[in-house]
Amino acid sequence: MSQAQPTATSFTSLQSLPDGYRALVIGSTGAIGSAFLAHLQADPRCALAVGLGRHTSPAVDLDDEATIAAAAHQLKAQGPWHCIIHAAGLLHGPHGMPEKRLGQLNYAQMEATFRINTLGPALVLAHFAPLLPKQGRGLLVVLSAKVGSIGDNRLGGWYSYRASKAALNMLVKTASIEVARTHPQAVLVALHPGTVNSALSAPFNGAEIGRPAADAAGDMLRVLDGLAPEETGSFYAYSGAPLPW
Ligand SMILES: NC(=O)c1ccc[n+]([C@@H]2O[C@H](COP(=O)([O-])OP(=O)(O)OC[C@H]3O[C@@H](n4cnc5c(N)ncnc54)[C@H](OP(=O)(O)O)[C@@H]3O)[C@@H](O)[C@H]2O)c1
Repeated sequence: MSQAQPTATSFTSLQSLPDGYRALVIGSTGAIGSAFLAHLQADPRCALAVGLGRHTSPAVDLDDEATIAAAAHQLKAQGPWHCIIHAAGLLHGPHGMPEKRLGQLNYAQMEATFRINTLGPALVLAHFAPLLPKQGRGLLVVLSAKVGSIGDNRLGGWYSYRASKAALNMLVKTASIEVARTHPQAVLVALHPGTVNSALSAPFNGAEIGRPAADAAGDMLRVLDGLAPEETGSFYAYSGAPLPW
């Protein structure tokens, strides 16, 4: 899907990271992932921004634990990595569209959704968090979704997707507590991008009601830039508003 990319004057520069910082984007073929990568590559303060996905080298396939481990192992030599963004995810696919009713639940869809939205990202946290700087600031962000908020669930439906993102939020929170012990300046957060025009949102009028991925990525980078280490383990919207778990 073609997306407007940030122009030379509209990219967001991460001022809170050291000059010459290095960044990784997992899911860089997606609408939001590619927009993140474009912002980072346009930031003169960023020395190196690398996109990772199923078809990159090294590859990261969330369905294949060995690729996640091998990619992190290979990238470690170029580290530390100051900004690590996980922007991959799944809402619909060959297994079907999001369930509207309990009667539509099936193992294949639940398993596929949890593998990509929860289990794969958990392994990304496990293998990539050690690449953050031990001393100094580091950012590790995982794209979640507001519909994964249990407290904010008013409409129901979308069982697998909601539950996979709620579980993802718990993993980010739990990892943030452990990582703070070894990386005291690290900030691990779950972010909601808002409704964005992408292949993921297309069946739900994403092209009509969603905004350009470049705008969402710019907003989220600004939110990340302003987060203090004490705010690690939080769930925020692209606007900077905290979201209920
Ligand atoms: N768009 C929205 O309105 C919206 C709203 C709330 C939350 N989000 C979240 O934002 C994130 C990005 O969404 P998007 O709108 O940018 O979606 P998108 O354009 O459909 O991109 C999805 C990305 O996930 C990757 N992916 C899927 N399965 C994978 C696998 N097995 N291994 C590695 N990568 C895999 C895709 O890679 P391939 O190119 O290889 O398929 C692609 O890079 C998702 O986590 C989504 O839940 C989006």
